[in-house]
Amino acid sequence: MKFDLLNLHPGTFGLDISDRSLKAVLLKKHRKRLRIESFRGILLPEGVIQGGEVQDIEKLAEFIKKTVTKLRGLDTRQVIVSLPEEKSFIRLLRMPVMPAQEIKEAVRFEAENYIPFSIDKVYIDSQIILSPDKDKDYAEVLLAALPRKTVDPYVNALYGAGLIPVAMETESQATARALIKGSYTQKPVFIVDMGATSTNFSVYSGHSLRFTSFIPFSTNSLTAVLAKALKIGPSEARKAQFLYGFQKKGGRAKRVFEALLPAVTGFIEEINKHIDYYQTHSSQETKNNADMDVRELIFCGGGARIKGLAGFMSQETGLIVRKGNPLANLPWEEKLNKKISKDELLPFATAVGLALRGYKIESYD
Ligand SMILES: Nc1ncnc2c1ncn2[C@@H]1O[C@H](COP(=O)(O)OP(=O)(O)OP(=O)(O)O)[C@@H](O)[C@H]1O
Ligand SMILES: [Mg+2]
Repeated sequence: MKFDLLNLHPGTFGLDISDRSLKAVLLKKHRKRLRIESFRGILLPEGVIQGGEVQDIEKLAEFIKKTVTKLRGLDTRQVIVSLPEEKSFIRLLRMPVMPAQEIKEAVRFEAENYIPFSIDKVYIDSQIILSPDKDKDYAEVLLAALPRKTVDPYVNALYGAGLIPVAMETESQATARALIKGSYTQKPVFIVDMGATSTNFSVYSGHSLRFTSFIPFSTNSLTAVLAKALKIGPSEARKAQFLYGFQKKGGRAKRVFEALLPAVTGFIEEINKHIDYYQTHSSQETKNNADMDVRELIFCGGGARIKGLAGFMSQETGLIVRKGNPLANLPWEEKLNKKISKDELLPFATAVGLALRGYKIESYD
């Protein structure tokens, strides 16, 4: 028997915790290629987490344990976890050029001016985006802050489930890591992550997120609209949403389309408004450069699986709309494993991004 100790890698494991679901992804290296070993999602009952705040730490620990038990091949207790977008503050700051350590320290002082909490009540994370070009006299720093009272119960639940959280980050940071190939875009890309309880918006440009926001509109909002309009129960509405989606075809599909149209139109208006907001608040150089207008949208989360919705979005916004590819930074996975469909993975983009944080990706196709 041969023991190949040097190649014995434990997996990296990402856990996306949402109000109504837990989603876990385990990545492992096989012959130096990073691949998805297993992934699992389970629903959370109402009342465990609400609006991003943990209501019942013990129940959450119990459901985390349940998810972990179902994750095939799990050989680590270390986990990277998402934190709710709606409780986080993300800002891109410009700082004078100075050594990295000094920038990090200065950001802590600056942070007070940007976040609506006193500094001793939040956890702060900062990331220097680009070493400044020779012709730039500033450095860009991404600042993320979350209230301690929001984060601590998540940490307690994770320890309660026997796990060790080694890193935590906001949903949009993780989602972008999964979807943006090589973590770089020449032009700004608008990301829409439509989930069961809310939709996150973000803009990624260059080497970083530039903007994040969220709205409470969700796939559940669409189900509720449908149930009301067609006078049917929630589970029947859910079935119709899965079966017909949002397509202007004949018969029942058309009735579903018409029932959903006002809500979807309102949703698209929100998208346009957020894009406008980003563009009018971006830096002067970006604003004066039409080349840096948002022209592309990446759609992910369970909402992106609704048939016809991505196409309609493209038609109404005039943007190039692509469904996100959670395997964008796992190119070998795509070639080797035809069984995992990208569509099925759309709701797992955040969890894939969390798991990816554990690895330094060496090469891209
Ligand atoms: N094939 C499908 N067709 C239509 N809708 C779908 C399909 N698959 C998933 N959905 C919708 O996506 C929802 C789940 O999305 P997702 O997993 O992204 O939510 P979440 O991450 O748990 O929620 P959030 O991020 O808002 O807290 C389901 O409730 C369902 O309405
Ligand atoms: Mg989600």
